[in-house]
Formats: sequence, structure tokens, C-alpha cells
Amino acid sequence: MNTKTLKQLLQEADAGGYAINAFNFTDVWDMLSIVEAAEEEKAPVILMAHPENFTQESMGICGAMALQAAKEASVPVILHLDHSNSVDVCKAAIDFGFPSVMIDASAHPLEENIRRVKEVVDYAHSAGVFVEAEMGRIKGGGIEGGYYGKDFLAQVSDCVALVESTGVDSLAVGIGTAHGFYTEKPELNFERLAEINESVSIPLVLHGGTGVPREDVQKGIKRGLNKINVGTCIAATYMNGMRDELIRFGENAFTIDIVGPVKERVKAVVKDWIGVCMSAGKA
Ligand code: 13P
Repeated sequence: MNTKTLKQLLQEADAGGYAINAFNFTDVWDMLSIVEAAEEEKAPVILMAHPENFTQESMGICGAMALQAAKEASVPVILHLDHSNSVDVCKAAIDFGFPSVMIDASAHPLEENIRRVKEVVDYAHSAGVFVEAEMGRIKGGGIEGGYYGKDFLAQVSDCVALVESTGVDSLAVGIGTAHGFYTEKPELNFERLAEINESVSIPLVLHGGTGVPREDVQKGIKRGLNKINVGTCIAATYMNGMRDELIRFGENAFTIDIVGPVKERVKAVVKDWIGVCMSAGKA
């Protein structure tokens, strides 16, 4: 069983020149695929539950399932609440036992972002829980309906202000990535990433990992990214795999027959990302 905190894992990643993968999951099968792939690659991994999950399963069911998987895993597995724009949802996750939460108030002006992050940080740190915030905007679909504007780039002075006034543990930065599949090649602002990394001492996070070329992810890791978020390609592999296996089996398939081969497909995607982030063997 893992005894390392996310803070320790990210510090080790920073010192070792690799990043920790964070994957979105929705249910037991994609969640176990992620954990099994990480175990086979001996890589630490983060399991991200999005608040949208809780519209179809309770936070308790989702959280308990992942916490149990983390307990049974042979590698460090950290459960994380992804993109909550609600302070109350973050507090509920902390109360439930999530060791890490994200308060995403990036849609609000700096002062309001700081206010919300500070409230979550104060609550979380008294329970030993790790907090991620966001500065700038991640393009594409999001918790508040998505962002499709041009003003996405995180400002260095805003990052410094947020980190200094809240004591937050990590920061997702808007540097040109988007949630979902890209319709054109993403242009990442590596210069801004490096400037932010020089100005704040906490780990930086890349959102919108799906579709970012591997050399760009690795360039970003060299410039301060320590956590790489990946979701869309996991969901698409899972759902497309389900469709293919259901068609192959025909009528009245047994669940376990279907999920076996589907899990293998999801595991292959997870392993590929572990390779991109160079975290194999780092558990
Ligand atoms: P993608 O779905 O684009 O991979 O992004 C995932 C993410 O950033 C989750 O926070």
C-alpha cells in the first residue's frame, strides 16, 4: 500500500525530470484499467473523478471504489477531485476522504478565484488534503459550459498573486491546451510556462492532455509540468471498445466477457501515456 502523499510524488517527479499522469475515470472498469496499467508499468498514478460522475453515481460510491483500489494497489494511486467549481463540493470530497481536490475558479476574476481557492485551501490543509487551482483558461468544454475565447493565457503576476495569497499546492495553467479532441494542432506557449515555473515554486499541471504531441508534453515537463491530465482518450477508448466488443459478441453478452478485452484497450492507452510522461519504474 502507498504511503506517499501527492506532494511527495510530485516533488520526486520534479527532481527526476518526469511527470505523474492523472487520468479521468467514470466507473469501476476504466478505473481498474488505469490502476492495472500503472501497476504493470510500476508507475505512480492519479485517478481523477470529475463532478459530472456524481450525477450518475454518488461521490461516496465513486470515491470509495477508487480509495479501495488505491489501498489494494502495488503502486502509489492518488484519488483526486477534478475541476470542481464549487467550494462546497470540494469540502464534501475532503470530508469523504479524497486526498486531493481541484477548485477551478478560473472563470472568475482574480480576486474571486483567490477567495474561493483560499477557502478550500484552509479547509483542506487542516485535513492534510492537497489542493490544485487554475489560472488562465483551458479551452474547450468545461465545468461552466466551456471556454472558447482567445484570452486563455495565464498571466505570471496573477499566478504569483494566487499562489502567495492562498498557499495552494499546485497550479493548472492555461498555456494553449483544450479539453476534448483537437481540431487543429495545439500551440503551447512554452515561454509562458517557463516564466510561470520560475516565478512560483509549486508543481504546474497540464490539462487537456489528449492529442498534445508527445514531444510537446515532454518539452513541457522540462519547463515545469509535473502532472499531466488526460481524459478524452480514455473515455473514447473505453466507449469505442464497448461498442466493438458488443457488436462482436452480438445479443445477450455477459458483462465480464465484454469488459475483459475493453480493459486491455484502455490499459494500452494508459501505458502509452506513462511512456510519454516517463514515469514507468518510478513507483
Ligand atoms: P482531455 O480530456 O482533453 O484529455 O483533458 C483532461 C483534463 O484536462 C482533465 O482535467
